[in-house]
Amino acid sequence: MDLQNLGYALTQVVHNFGATAVVGGAVASLWLAPRAELHRCMAWLVLSGWAAQMASGATFGAISFYYYGQFPDLSTVAMVALATKVACAVSGFVLAAVYLRYGASRTESWHRGVWLILASLAATALTAAAFLRWFS
Ligand code: HEM
Repeated sequence: MDLQNLGYALTQVVHNFGATAVVGGAVASLWLAPRAELHRCMAWLVLSGWAAQMASGATFGAISFYYYGQFPDLSTVAMVALATKVACAVSGFVLAAVYLRYGASRTESWHRGVWLILASLAATALTAAAFLRWFS
């Protein structure tokens, strides 16, 4: 079995489930009844998803570097798409952490606003993924 392909495939498994968690968790939370415990569980799921995206995204780069001694030569569109994904992942992670730390004392509309931003960041990253894939 080709170890390089196995590495990419296993990394992609984590990356795919991470994408599902950040998109699905945030979008579902917009429809959930406003129950604090439920929303905290979803925030942990989304926080873990963003962490998984950053770790697995970096692992993609590490595998390429290990096998080729350099990072892939990306087009401008692909670079912008990658930078967009990184910015969304960092912002999403920080925002989910802020929600978990300070959410208890905030209003209902603040909660909804945070979930809206988290869903938008996830949708933006998912869209950027398509451009990274096809403009690489
Ligand atoms: C630090 C953040 C991230 C980095 C460094 C990163 C990096 C990467 C890399 C290197 C690939 C492989 C590209 C290719 O096959 O040409 C990839 C694929 C992918 N990423 Fe990310 N990513 C990040 C965040 C995200 C996020 C937040 C999402 C979704 C919400 C996401 C969704 C995807 C998807 C769906 C693919 C597969 C695309 C395909 O093959 O069609 N990524 N990512």
